[in-house]
Amino acid sequence: MFGEIFEEELGRESVFRDASKLLPDYVPRVLVHRDDEFRHLTRVFKSVIENRASQRVLITGSVGVGKTALARRFGEELEPAAKGRGLDLSYLHVNCRKDRTPYAVLMKLVQHYNPSWPARGLGPEKLLDMVVDYLNKHDAYLTLILDELDYFVQLSGADLLYSLTRAAEESGAPNRISIMAIARDKGFLRLLDAATQSTFMHNVLTLDRYTAPQLVDILNHRIREAFKTGTVDEDTVALIADIASRWGDARLALELLWRAGLNADGKGADTVMPEHARQAKAEVYPELKREVIRDLQLHEKLFLLAVARKLKVSKRAYALTGEVEKSYRVVCEEYDEEPRKHTQLWEYLNRMEGLGVVDLQPSGKGRRGKSQRISVPDIPVATLEKELERLLKAGNKR
Ligand SMILES: Nc1ncnc2c1ncn2[C@@H]1O[C@H](COP(=O)(O)OP(=O)(O)O)[C@@H](O)[C@H]1O
Ligand SMILES: [Mg+2]
Repeated sequence: MFGEIFEEELGRESVFRDASKLLPDYVPRVLVHRDDEFRHLTRVFKSVIENRASQRVLITGSVGVGKTALARRFGEELEPAAKGRGLDLSYLHVNCRKDRTPYAVLMKLVQHYNPSWPARGLGPEKLLDMVVDYLNKHDAYLTLILDELDYFVQLSGADLLYSLTRAAEESGAPNRISIMAIARDKGFLRLLDAATQSTFMHNVLTLDRYTAPQLVDILNHRIREAFKTGTVDEDTVALIADIASRWGDARLALELLWRAGLNADGKGADTVMPEHARQAKAEVYPELKREVIRDLQLHEKLFLLAVARKLKVSKRAYALTGEVEKSYRVVCEEYDEEPRKHTQLWEYLNRMEGLGVVDLQPSGKGRRGKSQRISVPDIPVATLEKELERLLKAGNKR
């Protein structure tokens, strides 16, 4: 019985070529739209490679702007570049939210150099000494990426950072440890002493949130790796980019894309359509805006129903105001209501945008004037349609 299920599932067609390329830990070879930032890091680390100096940089930015991906990608390029110039340099990425004590971070370090060192039971200072000794003895250099350092400092204080600085100084060796810190913003620096603060302040690299067009590029790059050719509809990409651009968050964009793909597979569809992405959005943020929708005025509901039906039938991510107005008149007929005038509808639409029920964008069709694209980013339109029909029916009985 389970054997049959297994065979059936394995034999099923999928839109994915390799879904693992969408998981958050995967670092793509190419980071689109981060050339300038990569170049900046390269300039900072030039002196590490050429002069054996040590460096401190702080990378900041909100969730999903590529801080971790950039730092790891940079580390991967840094190692061979240094080696090619006769420098034994390695990088180590530590997530300080997962390894949340100085001891845990230093154990990572010790294991990086020698997993079989008898390090258990030793205090943090001793662990650090072992690492510094190793670096001195082997004439080796380290770039330590301290990811999510803001969480760590708020929780465990700054001792780890001070120890790292002190150990290198006391050993009398050139500073062999460079630090690439990552945090959401600079705020946590206030918890550090003035000297440490200022070493980071000199080199802050801020990653901006991604715009919708940038997210489209990121998604399209990843689609080529993760999906079979031609299985993701263009409108789906645009819709996902739009949703995620509110936060500028590539992680959210990729998660929505992945879930949309799963939904398409689940429905046996051979193409990932906008509706699959809306469904994905509802899974990620399950708050169906039921209350907001319930409290809409009668004609707002009728208009929204027209939008939902238009999107459902067209299977597109956006509907144009003109075509929705037509379908609104049909809806009014169905519910025996006198259609409102164009200007009144315009007001409804703007109010619903304010409430976050719909998204509005200029249609971009080159025509000047009032034509706009309407989308419903948060709710699968089939669900929205049902909900509105239910509310309208209940309202009529009153
Ligand atoms: N410029 C980019 N090009 C391709 N993928 C990106 C880019 N920026 C971020 N990503 C991807 O988006 C996701 C989130 O990035 P991440 O580095 O984890 O963000 P942060 O650390 O800032 O929260 C990761 O899967 C990452 O690979
Ligand atoms: Mg990160």
